[in-house]
Amino acid sequence: DDPELLAAFQARIDAGEKIEPKEWMPEAYRKTLIRQIGQHAHSEIVGQLPEGNWITRAPTLERKAILLAKVQDEAGHGLYLYCAAETLGVSRDDLTEQLLNGRMKYSSIFNYPTLTWADIGAVGWLVDGAAIMNQVPLQRTSFGPYSRAMIRICKEESFHQRQGYDLMRAMATGTAEQKAMAQDALNRFWYPALMMFGPSDKESIHSTQSMAWRIKINTNDELRQKFVDQTVPQAQYLGLTIPDENLVWNDEKGGWDFSEPDWSEFYEVLKGNGPCNTDRMEARQKAWRDGEWFREGLMAHARKSAARRVA
Ligand code: 3HC
Repeated sequence: DDPELLAAFQARIDAGEKIEPKEWMPEAYRKTLIRQIGQHAHSEIVGQLPEGNWITRAPTLERKAILLAKVQDEAGHGLYLYCAAETLGVSRDDLTEQLLNGRMKYSSIFNYPTLTWADIGAVGWLVDGAAIMNQVPLQRTSFGPYSRAMIRICKEESFHQRQGYDLMRAMATGTAEQKAMAQDALNRFWYPALMMFGPSDKESIHSTQSMAWRIKINTNDELRQKFVDQTVPQAQYLGLTIPDENLVWNDEKGGWDFSEPDWSEFYEVLKGNGPCNTDRMEARQKAWRDGEWFREGLMAHARKSAARRVA
């Protein structure tokens, strides 16, 4: 890229300006945005699977209605994000093809199973809690369509987190068996939730450039720390124990010292060797095949409507 154009672009970023789709941008800026927004969208869509697993088995009509609404929201989040990615010159079909052939990722967290009803609470409380921690700063990201998508998504995420925490509260204050289920869910989702923030800053390959271009506003470790500091008191309020015997308050830093996740497990999951990677990809491949007739019908209808408008 032309050094003068690059310098002018960086000056716009440093001035806190929003970059819009039709404006000049370095090819690498476009590429990393397609990567991050596309994978964010894939995460929303694949993220529906662990929760969808419990819609027909929710314990009450109210919990079923809440879970239905949340899963439907996630589909909408995926839609906003695919639309934001399309403004960068990539089609949703391209992005879906790259998801299905393993060339694009989705968040590691969705490769863990939801084994009990309490897991649905842990997902809302911890996974959506981590997602909020990550997405609130992204509202200020430099790319206009991504920032605006984040503003809309964040409005719905707080409902996702609150309903999950309320579900955990009901379990933790219920029978001994229910409290044990809530503790088991926390035990299994705690470290995978910490992995959602990405590798440690020293291992992160994109952070430096993404921070320079204000695509990423905070580093992975900063947001992980904020998440731990916010979540520990919430677990204490429920009478649940964070599964980390090294967790200790550090007065000096004004935050909790905690054990890092097992990063070898993280990279195994990214390689496709997590508990549910195969199931998730098969479910998405089946949905893509099963939906082909419907997509073709929509396109045929759109062509006919366009032809009628021209005639
Ligand atoms: N799962 C899968 N891949 C991950 C990951 C995770 N938890 N964390 C990092 N990675 C990948 C990165 O994508 C990158 O691989 P790539 O080059 O093939 O894309 C590699 O690991 C190195 O990580 P970096 O830290 O260098 O990458 P980033 O700068 O992109 O940071 C990120 C990773 C913090 C996830 C950032 O991409 C981001 O903020 N993305 C937007 C938010 C997002 O995608 N959240 C996913 C959850 S969405 C969700 O939870 C939905 C909610 O409604 C339930």
